[in-house]
Amino acid sequence: MLKVGGSVASELAASTELIVSLVERGHALAVVHGGGPLVGEWSAKMGLPTKFVRGLRVTDEATRDVALATLAGVANAKIVQALIAKGVSAVGLSGIDGGMLRAERADPELELVGNVTLVDSSLLEELIAAERVPVIAPAALDVKGGEILNVNGDTAAGAVAAALGARALAFITNVPGVKDKSGKVIERLDAATVKVLMDDGTIDGGMLPKVEACLVAARAGCRAAIVPSGDDAVERLLAGERVGTVFEAVS
Ligand SMILES: Nc1ncnc2c1ncn2[C@@H]1O[C@H](COP(=O)(O)OP(=O)(O)OP(=O)(O)O)[C@@H](O)[C@H]1O
Ligand SMILES: [Mg+2]
Repeated sequence: MLKVGGSVASELAASTELIVSLVERGHALAVVHGGGPLVGEWSAKMGLPTKFVRGLRVTDEATRDVALATLAGVANAKIVQALIAKGVSAVGLSGIDGGMLRAERADPELELVGNVTLVDSSLLEELIAAERVPVIAPAALDVKGGEILNVNGDTAAGAVAAALGARALAFITNVPGVKDKSGKVIERLDAATVKVLMDDGTIDGGMLPKVEACLVAARAGCRAAIVPSGDDAVERLLAGERVGTVFEAVS
């Protein structure tokens, strides 16, 4: 499984090329994408302020609607379009479709932000079995289905990878891995070290939900990693090589 970050989505050609090469090599694949910069840009156009708390976007109702329109709309359609143009049978959907992602509100301070509590991966499994590539925008329904919640792309990706029993989950972002205090990429992380690095502020901002998602996937037996974009990082990860920051599968 792949998660492509918002800044990578704006460099559409590179992420498309990566997905195409994985599909050509016969990998069954699902893609979750983010789009933080796009949500920020459109929020500004609408005169809405952008505020993050512990790496998550504070989401009032208007911001939730902007996130839905940009992520499940513009960002998702552009990724699907680029993949179709390269011959990949991509299908765009969001975590709402088929009741895929259920979430509960993460924190009153964050308003309409969900923490994924339940994944129905059956629709994804059908698509993958039909050799299609699902491209998933992060969004969820609350447990009763009464409300749409904004979900961080990483949170969605970790939960989906765990539910699918994916062999690997690679996060493609704008940094080549989790960096230590001196700026050097850390090769391996486990839950205990993550806690230390979160407590001392080394892991911060958008890296917080990403690392949490890696731990969720790793606990489900998935090889999770934050890898550099470009070159053959994902292939190397699948081959068991050291690349970016790897969170070993825990079973
Ligand atoms: N220790 C760290 N090592 C590396 N990056 C870090 C660290 N702590 C915080 N970060 C920040 O985390 C950012 C990556 O998360 P961010 O949410 O911005 O991107 P993304 O998740 O790929 O995109 P999107 O949120 O749009 O899906 C990096 O650009 C960096 O600024
Ligand atoms: Mg992010």
